[in-house]
Amino acid sequence: MPFFAVIGLGWGDEGKGKIISVLSDEFDIVARFQGGSNAGHTVYIKDKKVVFHQVPSGLVHPNKTGIMGPYELIDMELLIKEINDIEKGGINIKERLYIDGRCPLVLPYHKFIDELEEEKRGLLGTTKRGIGPAYSDFTARTALRICDFKNDRDLNERFNISWEWNSILLGGRYGQPPPDKKSILEKLKKHFEFIEDRVIDTVEFINKSDKNGKNILIEGAQGALLDIALGTYPYVTSSHTTSGGASSLLGIPPYKINRIIGVLKAYATRVGKGPFPTECRDEFGEALRKKGEEYGATTRRPRRCGWLDLVASKYSCMINGVTEIAITKIDVLSDIKKIKICTAYEINGKKTEALPISISDWFNAKPVYETFDGFEIKKDYKSFDDLPENLKKIIKFVEEYLNTPVKIISIGKEKSQILFK
Ligand code: GDP
Ligand code: IMO
Ligand code: MG
Repeated sequence: MPFFAVIGLGWGDEGKGKIISVLSDEFDIVARFQGGSNAGHTVYIKDKKVVFHQVPSGLVHPNKTGIMGPYELIDMELLIKEINDIEKGGINIKERLYIDGRCPLVLPYHKFIDELEEEKRGLLGTTKRGIGPAYSDFTARTALRICDFKNDRDLNERFNISWEWNSILLGGRYGQPPPDKKSILEKLKKHFEFIEDRVIDTVEFINKSDKNGKNILIEGAQGALLDIALGTYPYVTSSHTTSGGASSLLGIPPYKINRIIGVLKAYATRVGKGPFPTECRDEFGEALRKKGEEYGATTRRPRRCGWLDLVASKYSCMINGVTEIAITKIDVLSDIKKIKICTAYEINGKKTEALPISISDWFNAKPVYETFDGFEIKKDYKSFDDLPENLKKIIKFVEEYLNTPVKIISIGKEKSQILFK
């Protein structure tokens, strides 16, 4: 069976959770392939808000199976809290969740280093969930993984290596004492007991499920512009966030992912620092933040807001091979008289539609806009045809610019507020 992926086209928070909850009827299994508790995917069950961080948000649907793939970072303490909180809200998820034994762990000292490094290096505006330090530990091959808990010798050996490596960093770079080895290990062992029966080889599971005809949805976290290799480096997260990442990090053949839904917010947002050419640092940006309730689902930080950037979105479509687009939060642009869309950048006096590579070019990029007449969104649309003509013109423009069809239009945060084209 083909796999389909839902990927953010911006700097995260495009409304992936909402789109996944809408598509949930179409699949049996939902798999996360990267990131960790830095993600915050919001879904609504009737009018009740639920935010998923490490657990795939597709589990909001009662009959689905969730996978946390081999490259997802596991913060066991936060994962246990997340599972318990969601279950208290009446959705059983633990028994439907599988965690790969290969997953690297976020340890308490990774979160501490994340904080210290923010001060030392100057702010990137990370979520302080230990993501950068934990992935650094992993790629340095010094990390502790979930499977190490299955055997005391592996656990002690691997934990010592990670602890030693991070203690040197803490002492040398930040002048901090080594973390308390014994108490960390004791806690970790307790946490592992809670998740032990959920640990499997998800690579085997997912490939077997595929052979057995199951529909598998891949849930991206963050967005293409936050990709470690292809995003606005160094203002990025520390994992591969694109559809290509999904294939290598879940252990599935790339050609199998043949439906790739790019989630595009009708305007742009970014949390944390970094270049953002269409940012509106004025009353309009503030108004978008208020109307769109643009506050981080994980950290509650106010999100920076601005106009839709098609230059960046086109790049995101290209690097992901997006086959269809879901536009979200169209309702937030309702009643704005003139709507701007960025169709080129001007960098050092030169107009371009190519994305900058160097960070100084990124910061120098000035948006070139096309302006469109506004529209009013009403609540009772039954189909795409009912939408206002001015909005249809904008959607057509977006499709032509991105050379990709818009198939889903979200006009409110609830699951039912959706139209298909
Ligand atoms: P994700 O990280 O991509 O899943 O997105 P977040 O959940 O962090 O942020 C998206 C926010 O927008 C959430 O609060 C959603 O409830 C909300 N949202 C999603 N789609 C729509 C929409 O079409 N209209 C409005 N008004 N809100 C939406
Ligand atoms: P979802 O999945 C928005 C941002 C942080 C920071 C940068 C690096 O909800 O879309 P990190 O903690 O990953 O080292 O932070 O990446 N960031 C996100 N921004 N949505 C997210 O996830 C994000 N995950 C990380 O704000 O700028
Ligand atoms: Mg989010």
